Amino acid sequence: MAHTIVIFGASGDLTSRKLIPAIYRLFQKKRLPEGTQIVGVSRSAFEHEAWREQLEVTTKKYVGDAFNDSVWGAFREQIFYQPGDIQEESDFHKLADFLKSIEPEGPVERVYYLSTKPQLYEKAIAQLGAAGLNDDSDGDRRVIIEKPFGTDLASAKALNIATHRVFREDQVYRIDHYLGKETVQNLFVLRFANSIFEPLWNRHFIDHVQITVAEEVPVGRRAGYYETAGVLRDMVQNHLLQLMMITAMEPPARFDADLVRDEKVKVLHSVRPKTGGDFASESVRGQYEGYLQEEGVPKNSQTETFTAVKLHVDNWRWQGVPFYLRSGKAMSCRTTQIVIQFKEAPHLLLGSKTRIPTANQLVIQVQPAEGIQLHFQTKVPDTELKTKLSSLDFRFQQDGGQEGMPDSYQRLLLDAMNGDASLFARSDEVELAWGIIDPLLAAWRSPASPPLQVYPQGEWGPQECTQWMTEQGRQWFDVC
Ligand code: BG6
Repeated sequence: MAHTIVIFGASGDLTSRKLIPAIYRLFQKKRLPEGTQIVGVSRSAFEHEAWREQLEVTTKKYVGDAFNDSVWGAFREQIFYQPGDIQEESDFHKLADFLKSIEPEGPVERVYYLSTKPQLYEKAIAQLGAAGLNDDSDGDRRVIIEKPFGTDLASAKALNIATHRVFREDQVYRIDHYLGKETVQNLFVLRFANSIFEPLWNRHFIDHVQITVAEEVPVGRRAGYYETAGVLRDMVQNHLLQLMMITAMEPPARFDADLVRDEKVKVLHSVRPKTGGDFASESVRGQYEGYLQEEGVPKNSQTETFTAVKLHVDNWRWQGVPFYLRSGKAMSCRTTQIVIQFKEAPHLLLGSKTRIPTANQLVIQVQPAEGIQLHFQTKVPDTELKTKLSSLDFRFQQDGGQEGMPDSYQRLLLDAMNGDASLFARSDEVELAWGIIDPLLAAWRSPASPPLQVYPQGEWGPQECTQWMTEQGRQWFDVC
């Protein structure tokens, strides 16, 4: 069946940097349904041809060596531009007419991609409804909503209500690009396609779990947005909680969108509610040195660019196993990793009594060195019984063939076009995630909250965070 992808926010950075390159690559790999058309919508006045030319330059830049002139030549003919203002109802009627004029007779499936400013999502959805663009009597109509989905629980609820006035839940695809990462999907495979890990994946064998998303880059020119978010809203509410859900969830009966999401949601339901007092001892927040000098940052900004939070999942599998979620900007290196820290052997016959270095670790490297390492003790040859930490080391790079790792948006766009919502967040999931984040934000605002710790750029966050972990008899896995 014919497909149309309509991108609102066509002149934005995400469209040129991620969306068009991803659609181009899908076209190149012959994965797009035959005759898929792309229509960009934004306020700027452009002709189709001018937009195509502009996209050619950016796609070349972002796709790199995979760019091919003759493939682009065929692809560009399927790209169109329709000027439109989200505030203007008449522009949506014009869009409806335009879509009819380029789409073939018969049923056509459409995906509306909201990549505008988040403040415009509600309006855009209402306008789609008012112009009848949600009517799916002649082919499916789906809407993809970029993050952030709300800025707190109340706004997320309001956006869900506004969305459901126009689209049924099964038409709504809330995107979290971390779920499109190959290594995140591989976590499902690691856990549920192998029999050796699952028996160990519980409180009997695991001491704690660390999930780190460290970024080397500072906030730079994004301060305008970042000042309204901070790392907790920007990263933890979505990406880190998603990683935690997949690490902690029970196996679903089948890989079906609702069954997968039911299991993920159960994890969030099990997260122990915290009081303001708990947060003082169970979180650290920091700001990198120099953040206050970034363009657009107020000199007294209290926005956190780093946080580490300890969460407890109160269910049978995870009772007593803390999950540490840590993320920050301007850190030592760019790395996303999930560390499953196993318990110490029950009786240490050999070696020192120091807890951490001898216990097994399974390290899932989400990026950039995608892979999995299992650390365990081995004997140092030619010693009596001296031990050392050794590893089994799997790297996707050595395994991935020519194509390498596709960008997340390829997988997610294709899934949305095919009506598979397994890797998208459901309404209850986003609301529960905000329900975990809101009390923490409130606790940080209270005068009793420990102060924001300043950390030098290029480190693993504030010194206080390392100390906090040491006081709990644990140690961060600070390895790039
Ligand atoms: C985005 C955040 O969602 O994720 C950014 O808004 C962050 O602040 C980015 O830099 C990180 O994504 P990735 O895929 O580069 O790890």
